[in-house]
Amino acid sequence: MSAPSAPLGLYVHWPYCARICPYCDFNVYRAKGRDTAPLLEAMLADLARWREITGPRDLVSVHFGGGTPSLMEPAQIEAVLETAGRLFGLAPGAEIGLEANPAEKARFAGIRAAGVERLSLGVQALDDESLARLGRDHGTAGALEAMAAAQALFPRVSIDLIYAREGQSVEAWEAELTRALGFGLDHLSLYQLTIEPGTAFAKRAERGALLAPPEETAAAMFEVTQTLTQAAGLDPYEISNHARGRAHQSRHNRLYWTGADWIGIGPGAHSRIGAPRTGGRLGASALDRPERYVEGAAKGTAQAMETISALEDAQERVLMGLRLAEGFDRAALRAATGHDVDEAEAQRFARQGLLVLEGERARLTRAGRLYADGLAVALAPGG
Ligand SMILES: C[S@@+](CC[C@H](N)C(=O)[O-])C[C@H]1O[C@@H](n2cnc3c(N)ncnc32)[C@H](O)[C@@H]1O
Ligand code: SF4
Repeated sequence: MSAPSAPLGLYVHWPYCARICPYCDFNVYRAKGRDTAPLLEAMLADLARWREITGPRDLVSVHFGGGTPSLMEPAQIEAVLETAGRLFGLAPGAEIGLEANPAEKARFAGIRAAGVERLSLGVQALDDESLARLGRDHGTAGALEAMAAAQALFPRVSIDLIYAREGQSVEAWEAELTRALGFGLDHLSLYQLTIEPGTAFAKRAERGALLAPPEETAAAMFEVTQTLTQAAGLDPYEISNHARGRAHQSRHNRLYWTGADWIGIGPGAHSRIGAPRTGGRLGASALDRPERYVEGAAKGTAQAMETISALEDAQERVLMGLRLAEGFDRAALRAATGHDVDEAEAQRFARQGLLVLEGERARLTRAGRLYADGLAVALAPGG
């Protein structure tokens, strides 16, 4: 297990959405007509069990994700934060973030009052036709109103946009992103549309009813994204994330990218704590279906625990670390796992201009970032 002082984050998965977007393969369920009180109770019981496992450690972040956690009642958010504070303690300046759907803007004031300080808003697109195709229950005007409301209420606001949408040209994305950059936000999450297996979009694509832009177009959009965000003073600090300097980066997400520790509560939430060199890395996945999770939490079986081998741990750390512009430290990788990257592959990628090796640090070049996942697999030990 990690030293008690090592940073620990808490992820809270709220699995309900007003409606399910046709591109989304997260662990989500229709909210309509649900009594969510048993879920909250289960999450709090799960949190108490985590405290028994981790022992006393302060939380550096609490992140409400989903699903649509902006559908939570402010009192439910408050209950999670109060219990987290009581069981663990919140470190000074802890990041308290929540993912919100613009359609829930009437709830933002309550969410702020409950203690959330960072809101990330699923704007997705800035034109009505695209939003309709994405199955969203808000138009552009509604999304912009929600953004303005969020900026007035929360110290930190980020928006999510999805690019490489059907029919979208590089020029159209350039114009849309330029507009988004004009809103003066300090953080943007810009995701390339992924056609996830099993989603409504995947079914449409299979029968030829949805045509995603070709790979070269998507790659050109990625390039445009890097250039425009940088020119606007937002560093592309991670493949899909852009911030005005270190202070505005998502501190919670950095825990995932740097192989730090986090615990997760709520259906389908994942957790990782500890490191093999200091006594083993523990992984956990919560039961996916909300009803099963609620039953499991009552019996103490909501989480399936697993031991992450040193090799798996090293592979995860390389995959996640390469997503960061700053890359990762190989000495830290060896210290945590006893493994290093494949030296021959590292040298080959460096010669090809895809990877930079500076002392112990390994990071992708801008060209390399286009192939981050493939390069990570080849580079990781045992890959
Ligand atoms: C949990 S949602 C954000 C909050 C809220 N549920 C919403 O949609 O407004 C997380 C984000 O993941 C992104 N996302 C989900 N599925 C995606 C996909 N298939 N391709 C690209 N981005 C996706 C969207 O930008 C979405 O805002
Ligand atoms: S994108 Fe957001 S609102 Fe849509 S289904 Fe996924 S989690 Fe729910």
